[in-house]
Amino acid sequence: MKTVIEPFRIKSVETIRMTTKEQRIKALEDAHHNVFLVKGEDVLIDLLTDSGTGAMSSAQWAGIMIGDESYAGSKSFFNFQDAVTEIFSFKHVIPTHQGRAAEKILFSCVGGEGKSIPNNTHFDTTRANVEASGAKAVDLVIPEGLEPMKPYPFKGNMDIEALDKFIQDTGVENVPICMLTITNNSGGGQPVSMANVKAVKAICDKYKIPLIIDACRFAENAWFIKSREEGYADKTPLEITKEFFSYADGCTMSAKKDGLVNIGGFLCLNDDTLAEHSRNLLILTEGFPTYGGLAGRDLEAIAIGLKEVLEEDYLEYRIRSTAFLGDRIKKIGIPIIDPPGGHAVYIDAKALYPHIDPLEYPGQALACELYLEAGIRGVEIGTVMFGHIDKETGEEIPSKMELVRLAIPRRTYTQSQIEYVIEAIENVYHRRSEARGLKMTYQAPALRHFTAHFEPLDK
Ligand code: F0G
Repeated sequence: MKTVIEPFRIKSVETIRMTTKEQRIKALEDAHHNVFLVKGEDVLIDLLTDSGTGAMSSAQWAGIMIGDESYAGSKSFFNFQDAVTEIFSFKHVIPTHQGRAAEKILFSCVGGEGKSIPNNTHFDTTRANVEASGAKAVDLVIPEGLEPMKPYPFKGNMDIEALDKFIQDTGVENVPICMLTITNNSGGGQPVSMANVKAVKAICDKYKIPLIIDACRFAENAWFIKSREEGYADKTPLEITKEFFSYADGCTMSAKKDGLVNIGGFLCLNDDTLAEHSRNLLILTEGFPTYGGLAGRDLEAIAIGLKEVLEEDYLEYRIRSTAFLGDRIKKIGIPIIDPPGGHAVYIDAKALYPHIDPLEYPGQALACELYLEAGIRGVEIGTVMFGHIDKETGEEIPSKMELVRLAIPRRTYTQSQIEYVIEAIENVYHRRSEARGLKMTYQAPALRHFTAHFEPLDK
């Protein structure tokens, strides 16, 4: 059979609301042309993020009901710890309320003035937590990872030579850990190969630097290894994941992605001293070490989600359904990051709207167009998110890329809903020459994309 189907049937549904064009025009005006400010109920298909927006299984909902809410030593904690250890095999498992809480604790321990942290590409919260500690966040993805339309199987790989040179130039004593993000979200959801993690580990060993993996989308990464890397076709996603993490000394995790839950995360470490320091910080802000920032029921749902996410039928459907959207819109002529990522398709708005200057925000214009056309919400990842004002000249510096990410929540939308998204994108494509840029009329001093206000330009 050629058709890959959703490997589940629907047991509970949530109504989504159709809106008229007039309602959407009004909603977007009320939101100052920023889709972050549009109310969720005014969105028909929400592709803003794949984080915490997936559907839990009936087994996970059953787990919620048997969650043990004991303050200390909860049974649900031990189920959670067993599930995490079975997959990742680290000595210490520390629950947190989400990924960035694990990052905050880790970088409070290892970061600080004068330190530098290399990564293939830091996700925004990782970068923010590294920088908040006083350290520098440095991205060292391979050159292919920065060329949107150039197909390459593992565009998330770390540039090994650049990493070696970076450690020598910076001084080993200033590089407390090395990170590797799988899949590479900020670089288009692109995977990292087993050969690459081994090579990164060899460099880390040479300088005795611990390797910590940002594991958010570990199962999707395992599926890419299984389907693209020689020698792994016959291995299970669990076997691949176990091997991958055997090269690491710890991980940070947002369970809101490949934990298949609405909230949760964890920090894993092998080093006893670092783990002790981390648990001491955990108690200050998250909670007792057997619940972190979570309820017992959340821990139970994660334990079950981590098993479900490694099922082959699920992963085949997951990766294929994202590729389905990417491949179809590419055929229409939409420029995308190629190949499509595991959790999202990234449209190159600069290539789609060459007539819109980066400082008139082509990505924002496309995000607005998609909402107006059909109530679809994506997110701009371009100058609105990453551009900045030069402190000396007061000039606005645009981002390198102008992307719109369509992130696919897990087990949430059906193929016909994605067909509807494709049709909407096709309509937007046909009237691309009419699209207009925007003027930013309000911005907050930091993370401006969340709350910025815009006005559409006339021409
Ligand atoms: N690392 C990566 C690679 C991520 O994609 C995210 C979140 C985090 C860390 C932080 O995890 O949200 O649980 O605190 N990414 C979401 C997204 C928000 O939309 O890509 P968190």
